[in-house]
Order: sequence, then structure tokens, then C-alpha cells
Amino acid sequence: MKSTRHEKNMKILGIETSCDESAAALVEVTESGRKLLKESRFSVLASLISSQIKIHAQYGGVVPEVAARNHINNLLPVIKETFARAKLDPVKNKKDRPDILAVTRGPGLATSLQVGVWTAQALSLAWQVQLIGVNHMQGHLASNWLDLPAGITLQLPAICLTVSGGHTELVWITKLGVNKILGRTVDDAAGEAYDKVAKLLDLGYPGGPIIDKLAAQGNSTRFNLPRPMRNSPDLNFSFSGLKTAVLYLIRDAKIKPWSKATSAKDKETIYDLCASFQAAVSDVLVSKTLKAAAKRKPKTLLLSGGVAANSALRIKMQVAAEQNGYAFNLVHLRYTTDNAAMIAAAGYINRAKAKVAPIIHAQPNWELK
Ligand code: KG4
Ligand code: ZN
Repeated sequence: MKSTRHEKNMKILGIETSCDESAAALVEVTESGRKLLKESRFSVLASLISSQIKIHAQYGGVVPEVAARNHINNLLPVIKETFARAKLDPVKNKKDRPDILAVTRGPGLATSLQVGVWTAQALSLAWQVQLIGVNHMQGHLASNWLDLPAGITLQLPAICLTVSGGHTELVWITKLGVNKILGRTVDDAAGEAYDKVAKLLDLGYPGGPIIDKLAAQGNSTRFNLPRPMRNSPDLNFSFSGLKTAVLYLIRDAKIKPWSKATSAKDKETIYDLCASFQAAVSDVLVSKTLKAAAKRKPKTLLLSGGVAANSALRIKMQVAAEQNGYAFNLVHLRYTTDNAAMIAAAGYINRAKAKVAPIIHAQPNWELK
């Protein structure tokens, strides 16, 4: 019998510069002949990130002007190295050029976004390749589809909890690329709360990975911290009260910051505070995701964004999904924090809806609806 299925490959170059990571990636999409987007496979050929963390750590956070200047220096070498790692030479061989270019257009820092957008624009003009402007949060959603194990297809509808430094969102995904926001934070994002609490304890920037590491040695039940909005009837979040509760606890219990925590007892107190804070954040995030799931009845639960790298959250979400009968896909750790592979995948997923314009502009305040 003649096979009715044909497979076609497309190569996408993704570029991401929305904050302080200059990233490029090449993703190969295998489309099935039936053109069903849900059957497409996204394999990462190469993904590179040039991080500016060390530079911004001196200031305790990202300095936009410094970030933009570093993107200008870093981005082209990162793109060149990405092609080299994928064993492609787009200068010598036309067939090595990507079929589509995808760049983060927003949300993010205006001057950082502009470096990525104009670099992508120049490459698109030089190579005569279609350029797609991608929403960074759609990128985080798409990260769940990167490098899925053979034979695994994510069953939709799904609910994805996207937690990053700027966003905390519960997203209802009916089809790949068709999303609706069910709830979001009314004040600080989860990652922002991590970064602010780390600052209070003088732990360094970014706070999430440091708190996660210290929490592993602590007792999460020692400090009883609030779980803001855990039981509110809506699907929104709030984290600024939790940060304030930590501030008052540090003041009232005279907890020393890391630089002054010289004794083993002082250090243990910080480990316990980190573990208690981490428990409070992950409790609220998982409870609200389950509340959304009970209302919507998805087939699958997903997790994405920088805070999806958090060890407590990864475990709690997986256990909660299993106990409540939802399929769960644990996004690869390497695609949780900002990267360009997720932007390439989102560019492909949203290409039909993308406006084809000769010039695209950065859109720093572009929020998903
Ligand atoms: O997605 P992302 O790389 O950038 C934004 O789009 O914001 O997320 C960065 C955030 C930072 O707030 C960082 O502290 C947090 O993700 N983060 C973590 C962990 N790794 C990164 N938070 C908790 N635990 C982690 N292991
Ligand atoms: Zn991000």
C-alpha cells in the first residue's frame, strides 16, 4: 500500500534578547504530510546562550543600558557559533540558511529587544527569509514541545503554569498556538519574589537558583509563611505580601544576611527560611494550577518559565498531576530559563497568524490575552 504520509523538515533560526541573555538556536521541525501542527516534532540542532549574569550581579539586577550594549557585542558571535555547532555554514552554502527566522519582539526591555529585532531584520533581508516576531511568553509555552522523547505527543487541551521573572500565568491551551490566560499575578511575579527575597538576605542575583540550592539544606516547616490568595475563588496570584512577610520576619527575628551569617546556626536559619519560602511559593502555584484544572478539565498539565527550573516546584507539580489523573510533561531544565530554541518553536507554531511586514518593531509591553 502506498504511504499517505510524507515528512518535511524546516529549519528555524531563533533569536532572543528580551532581557540579559543573548541567545540563538537552530530548531528543526519535522512536519507530517497531513500538516497537523500537533504532530510536528521540534528537535534542537544547537542552542547557545551568552549570559550577562556576572555583569549585572554587581548591580543586584539587570541594568537595561548595559544589557543592550552587551547584546550588541555578543549576539552575532552567538549566532555564528550556533551555526557552527549545528555544522551549517549559511555564508558558503545557501541550503544551510534557515527557512524561517524568529525573533522575540516583546515583552521585555525595549533597548535589549531592539538589538535582537534589528539583527534578525538584517539577516532576513540579506537571506530573503521570512521573519516572524514572537511573543516571549508564547516562547515559554512552546518550550514544552522541544526535544520530546520519541513517540510522545502532548495531549491537548492543556493548562500550562508559566512562571518567570516578569510573569506568573495560568494558560489554557486548546491547540498549539491557541491560548487563553486564565489567571495571572496581581502584583509581583514568582521569579521576582525569589529575586527580592534573595536581595533581602544578601544572597546575590538572580535569587531563584541560589534560594533553590540553599533550601535543599533547610527545614521547610520551621517558618510558617503566608500562602497569599491560595484560597481565593479566582485563578490569580499575589506574591508581594509573601515578600513583605519575609521582610518582617527577618527584622523581628533578627535574621542576619548571608554576608554576616558567620556561625553554623545563622546559616541554618537562612537555609530554613529559604526552604520555608520555597514551600510557600510552590504550594500556592500548585494549588492554583489544580484549581484551574478542576474547572477546565485539561488532559495535560505543563510547566514553563525560569521558575520551572525550581526543584521543589518540579517535584510537587509532577506528584500533583499524577495524583489527580492528569498527564504531565516535565519541560527539560535547559529550556526553562530564557533561550532561543523556544522562540524558534513559537515562531513556527504562530507563523500562520504572524503579520508579514517588511519591517517589524520591538513591542516591549506585548502581553498575552
Ligand atoms: O524565564 P526567565 O529566564 O526570564 C524571564 O522571562 O523573566 O526567568 C528568570 C527568573 C528569575 O527570577 C530567576 O530567579 C528564576 O527565574 N529562576 C528560579 C530558578 N532558576 C531561575 N526560580 C526558582 N528556582 C530556580 N531554580
Ligand atoms: Zn523568560
